[in-house]
Amino acid sequence: MFTKKTVEDIDCEAKTILLRVDYNVPLDNGRVTDNYRIKQSLKTIEYLLAKHAKLILISHLGRPDGKVVPELSLKPVADVLRGMVNCEVLFAEDCIGEAVAAKVKAMPSGQILLCENLRFHPEEEQNDETFAGQLAATAELFVQDGFGVVHRAHASTEAVTHFLPSVSGFLLKNEVDTITNVMANPDRPLMAVLGGAKIADKLDLIKKFISIADVVAVGGAMANTFLMASDKPIGDSLVDKNEIPLAKDIMDLAEKESKNRRFVFNLPFDAVVASKVDSNAATRIVDWGSHVIADVENYPKRVPLSDYQIRPDEKILDIGPFSGSFIAGCMQSVNSVVWNGTMGVTETASIQGPIGPYAHGTELIIEALLGQFGHRPFSLIGGGDTVGYIENRGLIGQFNHVSTGGGASLELMAGRKLPGVEALEDKE
Ligand code: 3PG
Repeated sequence: MFTKKTVEDIDCEAKTILLRVDYNVPLDNGRVTDNYRIKQSLKTIEYLLAKHAKLILISHLGRPDGKVVPELSLKPVADVLRGMVNCEVLFAEDCIGEAVAAKVKAMPSGQILLCENLRFHPEEEQNDETFAGQLAATAELFVQDGFGVVHRAHASTEAVTHFLPSVSGFLLKNEVDTITNVMANPDRPLMAVLGGAKIADKLDLIKKFISIADVVAVGGAMANTFLMASDKPIGDSLVDKNEIPLAKDIMDLAEKESKNRRFVFNLPFDAVVASKVDSNAATRIVDWGSHVIADVENYPKRVPLSDYQIRPDEKILDIGPFSGSFIAGCMQSVNSVVWNGTMGVTETASIQGPIGPYAHGTELIIEALLGQFGHRPFSLIGGGDTVGYIENRGLIGQFNHVSTGGGASLELMAGRKLPGVEALEDKE
């Protein structure tokens, strides 16, 4: 349960409010290509505008390293926001200083001022007290609604709370409530489907799910490392050899767990491969199991090894149809699924989409989660690539909870405290 005060617990009427949002959105040539985070921030914004508040919105965008990087300006975000709210949205060229103060003073209530990228100042990431005081200078209240960034102790998430009464917005509360509830009290059986490139990035989460879930399925590039650690040939696939010992430890842990209780740790047993990541490269299916497809295709001849085994020049680019069906099948008998990480290469625009050759595993999971095979489990989805993919497919509203947080949701699921949440006022 969320134990921090929210905007509903304090008087916001006609107040000047510093609202931290996470508008770290993808841009392409100065255009916002995914506005999910902006949309999700609207509930708090609309609530506060209805209370005749003046809103000073602050956010970071990308990692400019304390320097002004014009390509990482929040100006394009102001344009998107203008199209989503019924009030004027002003833009300030900086997030602190006299120009901001003058704009806030001149601004009538019920309007928004979006400030330029916080991370153009090195002091933001240093959690600098003076900088935080400057951010807070013109406001009467601080509202934290940037769930995606509350795992960072930065000036706009931590130090700023030393200067103003600080409470949560609706997005942050909803994210924390939903994610902690699934982890602490899931409607069982619980399944986790994890993808992504590096095991180290999700190590705590994988361990956590091995201890609490009924099924853990691994896909994406991190599965390559597990496969290599189990002496399976993986050709020229993306792999982190340094993580092999880690992968072995995790597999040992999973094996111990499945001796103690009914628990399944699933790695892909077939894959879609090609010699390069290119929409025109020929694809085929290889497997490390019973090579059914190659058998059927060669019948009545003997199957040559080369028909089902990966070649040294080939890369694994998606899980295969049997692995995808296995995961989709498991979803028919569980009640909750946490999904983080696509199963194949879905982020390259030219080969993205359901007809792209490396998205079939991810598509099978989507179909299963949406109940196309009969049962529809509760779905909690996180991770930038996964959320971006389902946003591109126009399916975001169809899942139970799609998190706006990448690292923040991983840390919360793994049971870590989030400094930007800890810093807010407790409910009495
Ligand atoms: C995110 O996109 O995960 C958040 O905006 C945090 O960004 P960061 O990893 O650059 O701190």
